[in-house]
Order: sequence, then C-alpha cells, then structure tokens
Amino acid sequence: MQKRVRELLASEHPCPDVRVQGWIRTRRDAKGFSFLEVNDGSCLKNLQVVVDAQVPGADALPRCTTGASVSVWGDLVESPAPGQRWELRATRLELIGPADPSYPLQKKGHSLEFLRTIAHLRARSNLFGAVFRTRSRLARAVHEFFQQRDFLWVHTPIITASDCEGAGELFRVTTLKGRPGERPEDDFFGRPTYLTVSGQLEAEALACALGRVYTFGPTFRAENSNTSRHAAEFWMIEPEAAFFDLTADMDLAEDFLKAMARHMLEEGGDDLDLFERFVDREVRPRLRFVAERPFVRIPYAEAMEILQKSGRSFEFRPEPGQNLQSEHERFLTEEHFRAPVIVYDYPRAIKPFYMRLNDDGVTVRAMDVLVPGVGEVIGGAQREERLEVLRENLRFHGLKEEDYQWYLDLRRYGTVPHAGFGVGFERLLMFLTGMGNIRDVIPFPRTPGHAEF
Ligand code: 4AD
Ligand code: MG
Repeated sequence: MQKRVRELLASEHPCPDVRVQGWIRTRRDAKGFSFLEVNDGSCLKNLQVVVDAQVPGADALPRCTTGASVSVWGDLVESPAPGQRWELRATRLELIGPADPSYPLQKKGHSLEFLRTIAHLRARSNLFGAVFRTRSRLARAVHEFFQQRDFLWVHTPIITASDCEGAGELFRVTTLKGRPGERPEDDFFGRPTYLTVSGQLEAEALACALGRVYTFGPTFRAENSNTSRHAAEFWMIEPEAAFFDLTADMDLAEDFLKAMARHMLEEGGDDLDLFERFVDREVRPRLRFVAERPFVRIPYAEAMEILQKSGRSFEFRPEPGQNLQSEHERFLTEEHFRAPVIVYDYPRAIKPFYMRLNDDGVTVRAMDVLVPGVGEVIGGAQREERLEVLRENLRFHGLKEEDYQWYLDLRRYGTVPHAGFGVGFERLLMFLTGMGNIRDVIPFPRTPGHAEF
C-alpha cells in the first residue's frame, strides 16, 4: 500500500507491506545493511529505512546518495533507535533517479542567500519544506476564516485597465511590438492594460451585490524598492463588505490576524518548532501575544505625535502629512506599544482616491495594521460611497472621471457604506514564521532584476 511518510510516522500500530517514495537525505552504511533517511515532503521528519544488503534492489545502495529518489517497499516496525518510534524494514528497494555528486544540498547550514540561487531545489531543504507546507495550510485557514463568516471567494481579473492604488506602479500588458506608428487602439484589448495591483475596485462591485466577498490571488507591483518586504509579484487577500464602516473593518482585520496566529499555534506542529529553533526564538510568544491581546488603535495624527516626541533619530524624519516609513511603523509596533497597532484616519493627500473623506475634509477613513517584525501587513479603508464626494476625490487626485464610470455607477445605483482591506499573504507568512525576507516565503520570488526560474 502506498503511504506518505507523515502517515507512517503518525501511525498507531505497525504496518506491514507498505510502499514509500521520496528523496534520500542521507545514507549511512553498516555491516551488511544501510540506513536511508527518506523524505517525501509530507512532513519535516524523515523516515528511517533499514535496507538489508540481501533484499532485491540493494545492489543499487552505493548509488543511493543524497538527493536521489527511491521507491521502498517494506514493513513499518517499532524502531529500536532512540528518538523515533517507527522505522521501515525494507523488503525491496528501487532507485528511481540517481543524484549527481554535484547535488548542491549535500550538507546542512547553507545560507538563505545561497538557497535563493537554487530556488528550484531549496524546497528539498528542511526549512523551505516547512515554509511551503505552512504556506499551504495558511491559505486553507484564510479560506476557512472568510467562508465561516459568509464571505464569498470571488475571482477578480489579473489584467486590468485601471490603477487602483494610483501609485503608477504598473506592469504593462501588451501585444504591441514597439513598431513606429502603433497606436494604443491597435493593442490586444484596444486600450492600454496592466497587471492588477489590487482586485479591490472589482471586489467592491461584487460586494455591492453579494454583500460579503473576498479575493485571494496574485498581485503585481512594479515598485522599484529592493527591500526585504516588497515583491513585484505577491499574493493578496482582499475582503470587501457592504454595510461595513471603518470600525467593523478594523474589527474584521483584528479577528483575522488573531485567527491566523491561533491557527499557526494549533496547526504549526513540527514546522513551527523548526521556525522557533532556527529562525526566530520569539515566534511562539509573539503568536500568543497577538492571539490574546487587543490591538492598539490610534489616529494617524496621534501616531505622528508619538514619533515626533520619541527622541529617536530616524533616517526619515516623521513629518505630519507624510507617509509613515517602515522604520516609523516598526518603532510604533515593536518599541512604543509592543503590540499590533492599527493606525487610522490618514491625510487625504497620501492615500488613494477611493477612501471615504472625513468631516474634517483633510483626513480619510484609512487604516493600516502594523505588526512587529514586518510593519504594515494590512492596508484598508472605508470607501467613499457618496457620488459627489467621490467625484471630488477623483478631481483632487488628478484622475479622469471617464475612466471610472462603472465605479461611479456603484454610487449611482443603490450605494451603500462599505469597507475592506488587503492583506499581503507573504507578509502575513513572514509575521507568522519569523522569516525575515519576503524572498524566502514565496517559492519563486520576483523582485527588481530577478525573474529566474
Ligand atoms: O496597502 P495596499 O497597497 O492596499 C491595497 O492595495 C488596497 N487596495 C487593499 C484593499 O483595501 N482592498 O496593499 C495591501 C497589502 C499591504 O498592507 C501589504 O501587506 C501588501 O498588500 N503589499 C505587498 N506585499 C508584498 N510586496 C509588495 N510590493 C506589496 N505591496 C503591498
Ligand atoms: Mg498600504
């Protein structure tokens, strides 16, 4: 019977006659038999396989080197060795694919930088196996969180004609060849198109019909910032809910992060142990802290005041009216409050056109959730639902009304207060695992100058 290593190691009783397939991590030879440590990706731990030199296929043992793939038939029995309950006594071995001696994952302790250069192989290391298993479990937890709360998963387009965030960080999508005389009308869609920076505008349309929706998909930004928390291609989760105001939006964001922290504590298992041992000693206490303690909520103006009075010499001086820099965000959450912080009511001029204008006429109903180690993990807002104010916002941001007719329709026909937010899935993973670089939580990272693999 075909079995995964994870199933076998969790077994309650011996299992005769099973087959396991995977990759050899190490081989040790003793007199008359060999030990193979086999990993099939199903869990962090390897299965110890004992291969007697007499069993069919054992002649291949010398070529069963680190990195080679094998099928092993045998019986799962209690292991006499300390530190493990089960081992597989092989009755037959088949070498499927030998590994050249140049296999780069020979010994332990490669640097993350080196492993990035072999992104096609790094998932075979303990650490990256743990990261990508966590990524999969977390994606499922995200869906469960929203579906349990009656949010529908909607699929918004990847190719769009609008710049939702208005930051001009768009990748162009075109079939034009760059020949002289080509007009935008000659392009595939008859107009300039881009890879989406956010599914929000379309999610708003769907929320204003289905009530509660969320997107979860790839997102693209041609941001030329070479930092440890920016990627050109990342995954974003964007809930959008009709009849939500900013407080309901902040409550949902806080519930969401708490639920993800609890999920990690409950389901993280061996993978979480590995992060705690080798990546971030503080990861468990931090998860508990986030799961249990209420988040701090402060207006932008107050955050600015705290920063200005902090006596800190920041690289960028905190200036009222300016965006918070990553160092400011991290000061607030890591040092000043030592808690996740939600900053809200930002100046209108530094936020996109779609945010709801406050009665003061200068701030908008924006909110950013800041967490230790990462800074901004969530950005959201209550949306401007009043047609005339939204028109004014477009003018204020120098945008053309013609380009937003369908979006304005949502305010012409049965407009409702609504709100939503965007979570960077990789930033969430960084926060939950303690991994310090976004390049190490997505299998094949895309950053300026890097699109290998
Ligand atoms: O704050 P942002 O730009 O907000 C939006 O796009 C809104 N339309 C979301 C909404 O309200 N529906 O992006 C949301 C989140 C950020 O907080 C961050 O976690 C992540 O997306 N993010 C990035 N993650 C990785 N690399 C990048 N270049 C990112 N840019 C944003
Ligand atoms: Mg933001």
